[in-house]
Parts: sequence; C-alpha cells; structure tokens
Amino acid sequence: MQRKGIILAGGKGTRLRPLTNSVSKPLLPVYDKPMIYYPLTVLMQAGIREIAIITTPEDQQLFQRLLGDGSQWGIRLEWIVQPTADGIAQAYLLAEDFLDGAPSALALGDNLFLGDSMSPHLVAANAALSGGTIFTCEVSDPERYGVAAFAGDRVTGIVEKPSKPPSNSAITGLYFLDADAPSRARAVKPSERGEFEIVTLLQSYLEEGALSVQRLDAGIEWFDAGTHDALLEAGQAVQRFQRSGELFGSPDGAAFCHGWNAGATVENALHQLGKTSYGAMLGAMVRKDACLPEALPM
Ligand code: G1P
Repeated sequence: MQRKGIILAGGKGTRLRPLTNSVSKPLLPVYDKPMIYYPLTVLMQAGIREIAIITTPEDQQLFQRLLGDGSQWGIRLEWIVQPTADGIAQAYLLAEDFLDGAPSALALGDNLFLGDSMSPHLVAANAALSGGTIFTCEVSDPERYGVAAFAGDRVTGIVEKPSKPPSNSAITGLYFLDADAPSRARAVKPSERGEFEIVTLLQSYLEEGALSVQRLDAGIEWFDAGTHDALLEAGQAVQRFQRSGELFGSPDGAAFCHGWNAGATVENALHQLGKTSYGAMLGAMVRKDACLPEALPM
C-alpha cells in the first residue's frame, strides 16, 4: 500500500504571539513562502501524493484557500479538523480513516529541512514498510526538543524535552511509521502535561526493536520555526540557500520534478508568480530542467 502523508498544522502557536493571534503558525511567511509549503514539499519529495492536513476548525478555510485540493500539483489533499490540540500522537487517531491501513509520513507544520541531501534519507525511510523511522539532527539546545540516546548508531532511548539531555540529537518533526501507528496511538496515555506525546508512541516501536533512525548530516539545516528567533533564522536560511538560484520548499518545483503537474499547470503557476523571485527561480528550474536525480524517489 502506498504511504500517505499527514501534516499537523493545528495548535495555537502560543510561543509566536502576537503574530499568531489572527494567523495560524504554518501560514506565516518563511522568507518567500508560507511555512506549510516546506513540510508539504518534503512529503512530495518522498513521493507521497495523498496528504491529509490537520488544522484547527477556525483556520481550515485559510489553508484551503492557499492549497486548494492539491490537483494543481498532481496530489490529493484531504482536510481534517483537530478540535483541541492534545498532542502530536493524536494526529494518528484523527487521520485513521484517511490512512485506511496505509503506512504514513507525518510532518509537523512548522518543521523545515533545508539542503540538497534530504532525498536519500527520505528514500530510505520510505522503503521501510514495517516499523518506524525518525530523523535526528545535532543541535546545541537539545532540551527544547525530543532527544534520542544512542549506543553507536542504535537508538536506545527517547525522551521529550529533557532537562539533562542524553545527547545533542534532536528528534525532528518528521515521522515515518507503519500501518500500526493508529492502533499504537490509541494505547498512548496522556502525559503529565495532558498531551498524547509522540515520544510515547515512538517508544512503543523502540521497545520492540522496530525504530530506525536517519541521522541528518551537517549539509541539512533543520528548523522548528516555533519561536520568533527560530522563525527569523529559518527565513534567513532560506534566503541564503536560495542565493544559488535553487528554490527550496516549493510544491510547484516538487510536482514539476516528479512530472506530476501538466505543463499547463506550471505555466499557470509561472503566470501568477511571474514577477516574484519565487516565480523567477521556478521558471529557471523548469527551463533548465534542474531537478536533482536523487530528488525523484517514487
Ligand atoms: C515537538 C515534539 C518534539 C520534537 C519537536 C520537533 O515539540 O514534541 O519531540 O522534537 O516537535 O519540532 P514542540 O515543537 O511541539 O514543542
């Protein structure tokens, strides 16, 4: 069964107030694109064409106005409401009907992965149809994140926002799990802070030796754009990466590279975006056919 994607774009974005008083966090700009474009592009890069987007009830229409039904990119978007933000593991319960027994890739709406070498990691994670895969990244402030402990390259433990982190390896907000994820999520008990924690779900895979890790190398910059500083740094990083003329976090580009959108659709996007730097880079990409071969996993 084809892996399906989920983007968790609910939540109140309390750490980004007042920016998020009237705009949902994943709709905020990260340099030249809305934040949600970046996780959406990662899922598309992984070859995923059916994606559910989980939002708050109030914000769903705004996301729909931005992304439509996905047909412009040759993908199908489904919309799911998260009435209250009760933790990341809850996404698997909300998306259970949509997944309908398929393995999944869940991306958090505020996570960005910049760099050219993401695709091999996605290909490897996609190939594993049983068990789960997490992606870790070395950071200087691991206490802000879920953290993995290692013995060599094997994960031995995972812990959420530890005051004494067992390593500097943050668990990023991208999780490739097998078809068991919803039933395992049902067994997750709320934590002390009252949330269905993703680390508890991951621990159930770990305890059975069914959790793999893709350790992201220094060529990939990862951002959880959930604070004002991180949001600004992420935007600056996108600007820096794109100075080479290569477009990052573009569903238009991902669809083009996969051959998922008809030529007319690219023309339409270029027409709408033409006078922007985004449009200029997309146009250059299309004219040069500048898709990295490894960016085409299917
Ligand atoms: C969440 C997860 C955490 C993970 C992080 C990645 O934290 O709970 O394990 O490391 O996303 O972005 P949050 O940013 O929601 O506090």
